[in-house]
Amino acid sequence: MEIKKISVIGGGTMGNGIAHVFALKNFKVNLVEISSELADKSLLNISKNLDRQVKKESISEKDKQEALSNINKIIGVDKTPPDSDLVIEAIYENKEAKLNIFNIINDIVKKDSIFASNTSSISITELSSASRPERFIGMHFMNPVPVMQLVEIIRGFSTSDDTYKAIRELSIKLDKVPVEVFDYPGFISNRILMPMINEAIFALMEGVASATDIDTVMKLGMNHPMGPLTLADFIGLDVCLAIMEVLYNGFNDSKYRPCPLLKKMVAAKKLGRKTGEGFFKYS
Ligand code: CAA
Repeated sequence: MEIKKISVIGGGTMGNGIAHVFALKNFKVNLVEISSELADKSLLNISKNLDRQVKKESISEKDKQEALSNINKIIGVDKTPPDSDLVIEAIYENKEAKLNIFNIINDIVKKDSIFASNTSSISITELSSASRPERFIGMHFMNPVPVMQLVEIIRGFSTSDDTYKAIRELSIKLDKVPVEVFDYPGFISNRILMPMINEAIFALMEGVASATDIDTVMKLGMNHPMGPLTLADFIGLDVCLAIMEVLYNGFNDSKYRPCPLLKKMVAAKKLGRKTGEGFFKYS
């Protein structure tokens, strides 16, 4: 089956990035949000991010306009178009909320379409149980989606080879680099990234070095584009904590215990860039 029509559920940071890259490659994209205001906000972000690319001359103004015209606003998950070939869920990291969405769309969307979740750590096998396990897969994009080349493709316990192949080919059409990963907590990206970030937070909590110096070590010593604490602020400290908890509970191993300072900052709602303060302050 050729995948042409995509529905993206959730227009937040990840959802709008995903809609952006598909629309720019001339796919028809339904951007599904819960209100018209949120859908408009999402489209505005897409337009601003396309502008960055126009400014850098990596795309033309015409490409931008065509991409925007490929995106159709849909309000309400129950209005997800039944003829979608692929539905990608990109809402916040909550298993029950995601299962609820897949339950709703399973009754609406044609049976031969593929369902994907952009979850950063929730089990694909568990998420697939609510709908169509063989045609269910993880499609984990990285933030910022228009810039980052990787797509982690996660095969749930029952994901069929045809589903995997279709999503792999589709990722290549987006000019992304797909990597095949099996369904274990944190997949590969967050199993490795999050313990590093968590360890940086332990080092800060123990007073080993300042936040700036910890980041400088990893930027200048290891050539990371962002230090781990800046990256944690960029991802969102609530998201980092949720992923550490998935690792901790999923492996039942104390090496994944979330740092108490991370927990305290989430409790204090210092969530990083999105709240204006995390390990650093943002204006
Ligand atoms: N849309 C389109 N273009 C964007 C963009 C966006 N949202 N954000 C940045 N860009 C573009 C810029 O226009 C710029 O383009 P050129 O290279 O053509 O000049 C380029 O990206 C670099 O941006 P900046 O010059 O503004 O800033 P920078 O050089 O500091 O790079 C960064 C910013 C790309 C975010 C870089 O710091 C970086 O790679 N950081 C690490 C990001 C990372 O690790 N992401 C993964 C997070 S983990 C995750 O997503 C998964 C999870 O499950 C938690």
